[in-house]
Amino acid sequence: MNSLMKLLASLLLIIFSSLLFGDIDVVESSNQNHRFSGRNKLFVFGDSYVDTGNTKTTDKGAWEFPYGITYPGKPSGRFSDGHISTDFLAQLLRIKLPVTYKEKDDVDKTRLQYGMSFAYGGTGVFDTKVKYPNMTGQINLFEKLLGNVYSPSDLSSSVALVSVAGNDYITFVLAHLDDPLGLLFGLKSFIEKVVNQIEVDLRRIRTLGVKKIAIPSLTPLAYTPVLANLPESIKGIVQDNVKYHNDLLQKSVAKLNNESNDIDSAFTIIDYYNTFLTVFNNTGGIPGILTFKTPFIACYKIDLNDIKNSTLCDDPKSAFFWDPIHPTQEGWKSVYKVLRNNITTALLPKA
Ligand SMILES: *[C@@H]1O[C@H](CO)[C@@H](O)[C@H](O)[C@H]1NC(C)=O
Ligand SMILES: *[C@@H]1O[C@H](CO)[C@@H](O)[C@H](O)[C@H]1NC(C)=O
Ligand SMILES: *[C@@H]1O[C@H](CO)[C@@H](O)[C@H](O)[C@H]1NC(C)=O
Ligand SMILES: *[C@@H]1O[C@H](CO)[C@@H](O)[C@H](O)[C@H]1NC(C)=O
Ligand SMILES: *[C@@H]1O[C@H](CO)[C@@H](O)[C@H](O)[C@H]1NC(C)=O
Repeated sequence: MNSLMKLLASLLLIIFSSLLFGDIDVVESSNQNHRFSGRNKLFVFGDSYVDTGNTKTTDKGAWEFPYGITYPGKPSGRFSDGHISTDFLAQLLRIKLPVTYKEKDDVDKTRLQYGMSFAYGGTGVFDTKVKYPNMTGQINLFEKLLGNVYSPSDLSSSVALVSVAGNDYITFVLAHLDDPLGLLFGLKSFIEKVVNQIEVDLRRIRTLGVKKIAIPSLTPLAYTPVLANLPESIKGIVQDNVKYHNDLLQKSVAKLNNESNDIDSAFTIIDYYNTFLTVFNNTGGIPGILTFKTPFIACYKIDLNDIKNSTLCDDPKSAFFWDPIHPTQEGWKSVYKVLRNNITTALLPKA
């Protein structure tokens, strides 16, 4: 129970600090010529796994040292030491990084042509503890730009990345701190609610005109450093629930693809669950990706009692996890190397 309380305390810290969740080379250089990839815009919805800078700089968290030390060398609002999933996906699709919603009025108008990110660290499909828009709200922001910033033909070759990495579940757990039975018996039906809402959100993004929509599965959360000290029995429960979420998500995505008339599937799951495990387990057998010797130890260990006492590892490149929740740039890079072929097959137009 002590470790459970520690876990919850860490989750609380992350919620309230973030207010909760160089160069990149996923694409081999031979593919770097600037031929048209067939996709021209990336729209991003979700949480800290994809947010490239929408949270307020006054929130600290991703806007504070040592976030961003690898890239761009100072905090950029990414919850990592450097590039994150959004950067790597954009690069695979050969689209320039989309602007954040926050900076859309401050950038040169030509930069809007690569799409936009509406993602905010700490958010979920439902309301969490943060003041930022939930996924419905993020899609509303997108919808308001249609017809003025983006026309229907602008969307005809667009992709959406939709991240739901677990903030709804953190919020649910925190709401049941005094009610372990409610937690135990309510979780399954809450997972069903979350996935149903994801289905509603994905359908809406497609209806608004986005051509291809990618949603990652939940990662194997029990192996995330924030949960590292939990007893094995509780980790087992966590993994069972992660699998339940992912099974339901699979069914929802199959249903969405079945109900649309698209010739090739509009909706695709990015299999983070198995890919994270593959990277954790890699002992050198996968060309081009590092062996992470201690994948479940975070580089940046946040001290809950005194943030100044937090410690930083010597080499973020040797760590898979940056902080107790988020992968490093090297971690994300490895994940996207493993996923590269499946992602390009699913998201790029057939030649
Ligand atoms: C999203 O946020 C709005 C504003 O807080 C809220 O009214 C709405 O119920 C939320 N939607 C969902 C699906 O939770
Ligand atoms: C796919 O759609 C058809 C027609 O709407 C329906 O009969 C069938 O049950 C659906 N299959 C799945 C797997 O949802
Ligand atoms: C990774 O290793 C774990 C523990 O040894 C094992 O249970 C799991 O099946 C492996 N997963 C993959 C994808 O290789
Ligand atoms: C700082 O961290 C060290 C090592 O983990 C610990 O022994 C010490 O009590 C911490 N100091 C404070 C002020 O939290
Ligand atoms: C890629 O797709 C194939 C076919 O669906 C699947 O068997 C394989 O596990 C996928 N690989 C990854 C890394 O997701």
